[in-house]
Amino acid sequence: MPKENILIIDDEGVILDTSSEILRRVDYRVTTACNAEEGYAALKAGGFDLVITDIRMPGMDGLSLIKKIRHEISTDIPIIVITGHGTVDTAIESMKHGTQGFIMKPFTPQEFRGTVNDVITKSGIMKENIRLKAVESSYISIIATLASTIEARDPYTAGHAFRMAEYSKGIAVQMGASDEESGTIYRAAVLHDIGKIGIPDHILLKKGPLTQDEIQIMNEHAEIGGKILDNMKGLEKVADIVRHHHTYFNIKHHTHKVNGRDIPLGARIIAAADAFEAMTSLRPYRKAKSVSEAVEELKRMTGTQFDPDVVNAFIEVLKDRGMV
Ligand SMILES: [Fe+2]
Repeated sequence: MPKENILIIDDEGVILDTSSEILRRVDYRVTTACNAEEGYAALKAGGFDLVITDIRMPGMDGLSLIKKIRHEISTDIPIIVITGHGTVDTAIESMKHGTQGFIMKPFTPQEFRGTVNDVITKSGIMKENIRLKAVESSYISIIATLASTIEARDPYTAGHAFRMAEYSKGIAVQMGASDEESGTIYRAAVLHDIGKIGIPDHILLKKGPLTQDEIQIMNEHAEIGGKILDNMKGLEKVADIVRHHHTYFNIKHHTHKVNGRDIPLGARIIAAADAFEAMTSLRPYRKAKSVSEAVEELKRMTGTQFDPDVVNAFIEVLKDRGMV
């Protein structure tokens, strides 16, 4: 498999010769340019994975070239700056424009190769992350459509997942979750009942309380949802949360394999937000509870069905929103 295509721009012929020789020896493909204008023209033609540029050059200097690349060609192609004494400040300035590495003159072949390998590896990881994010978001929109299809069958639950996801995200943030973690929890909340796809209509749409047997079948939707999401790359954490969204905090009250803080945080949060949202919404067989009645109910189940930390954080969120 051909290795990355690298463009080296430097006005010193000897630097171009030695650096390209170092990289060709480890199978990189190398193109050289002896000034910024020539380098810019080569980049315009495309096909490069990495740019290595000198700072001080006659005509357009390295910093101007980097700005031009970022504005006109690519915001994310990795750039390494070759810097000597006297241009260190400029090299640091170039970081503002997203350069990923420095090579200090004079350099050894090991240093040169090391920096290039490093930057290439990191940018490879970045590309993979961007690709995964794109795959993930296309899954999410497909599944969210499916989730609302399920909700659409029962007008009383329409909008439930999205309202509940808002609460869940608020609780996660209140508990100090990172942006990434609270995002995962939000997605899991939107998709939490996706497994209801596998529940027979006469149970799912039953008007009235369920029998014990029916409850048992209904409870399988969490595991079914987990299994659906298990197969989707990038949604592993979401799958884990969905699988446990009905797991009781205290195992003495349930037959699940994990309990307490071993249950994913997102699942503990969704359990409380889901119950609260359901209690405060109107259902065909009962009227909606008030917010304070629902909060009392959550408190009553704290330590058994719900995580006390989650319930406390939830109450704070409701206070912040002026609901209690
Ligand atoms: Fe559920």
